[in-house]
Amino acid sequence: MSEKPAPPPHLGSLVNALLDWYGRHARDLPWRRTRDPYAIWVSEVMLQQTQVKTVIPFWERWMREFPDLISLAEAPEDRVLKLWEGLGYYRRVRSLHQAAQNLKNDHGGRFPKDYETVLELPGIGRYTAGAICSIAWGQAVPILDGNIIRVFCRLGALAGDPKDPELNRMLWEQSKRWVETAAASGRPEACSHLNQALMEWGATVCTPRVPACDRCPLSAHCQARLQGRVEAFPELAARAKVTAREFVVALIEQRGRVWVRQRAADALNGGLWEFPNLEVEPGAAGGDLRLRSFFGEMNLQHWKPLTVVRHAITRYRVTQRAFASEWVGTVGELPGGGRWCREAELEALAMSSAHRRIARAWTGVRDRLHPD
Ligand code: ADE
Repeated sequence: MSEKPAPPPHLGSLVNALLDWYGRHARDLPWRRTRDPYAIWVSEVMLQQTQVKTVIPFWERWMREFPDLISLAEAPEDRVLKLWEGLGYYRRVRSLHQAAQNLKNDHGGRFPKDYETVLELPGIGRYTAGAICSIAWGQAVPILDGNIIRVFCRLGALAGDPKDPELNRMLWEQSKRWVETAAASGRPEACSHLNQALMEWGATVCTPRVPACDRCPLSAHCQARLQGRVEAFPELAARAKVTAREFVVALIEQRGRVWVRQRAADALNGGLWEFPNLEVEPGAAGGDLRLRSFFGEMNLQHWKPLTVVRHAITRYRVTQRAFASEWVGTVGELPGGGRWCREAELEALAMSSAHRRIARAWTGVRDRLHPD
């Protein structure tokens, strides 16, 4: 085997400074108390689009109900989705579930140690594979996410859009040099700590706005700071324009039950339960008329406004206008499929946050109309 050249001393001292800083300032997060690859994997998937403080109670509850890979693989999908309710971006959890099943069937229920094998699992890209293999297995594999792009672009005053393939490739290379330099330091848990230190530095010090340069362990070496232009990096391309979308949502009730349907597995939010809804022109009046013409007037006459829920997802700003109406005919099927659901059962269904808020508005109104 050829010997690797010694890392440049400059990089060695940066890596050491960052590791020292991490030793003093790492937050005590529950998934940092374990080396279990499954537990770390779950935390990384939850953290992909969600902040640490939101994730903590979700992760703790998840680990109580699904303490290992096998318990997740064997869990019904409805229950898995329910435990994810509120975290959003449900494709993440469907892939996590699928990957656990693959590992149970093809790998004897053990999480693989081989980076390339990890990378083949559904929902696991280079970042997540690198995070798991470095944190759980101590491997010298790189990670790159928005936080790390930001710290590297600032440290080197790197011009250009980090999504540009050439700059992106350079950033991955840089991350690899850093973790390999950490590995060569011989410090305990060097790769795990280096990668987590990069995340921590970006999340708590080198933040997108108002970075805390006075607390930065590497501020003396930061080229962006020397230029007085820290916030100018990274040079991200303009975000996609925000688009308004609007839906009218139908709460159709009959004797304490409400009509719900399940989204198709391959749709956005696949597998979640929801109330029937129609997309309408944003800002247009007469959503209840659209419902009337969709469902017909025979058994559904009065559509009463129930609530309006607003939320944002990716580049969409969404308004959901919910109307309630009572089904006065014999019990039947409604257009679009679905089933009648008792009020008491509603809480157990996995729903998107928007539809959960509508469900709560409905049960709140019912509680006022029919107090015990
Ligand atoms: N963000 C992504 N992964 C993280 C981790 N392991 N700890 C804290 N924040 C993170």
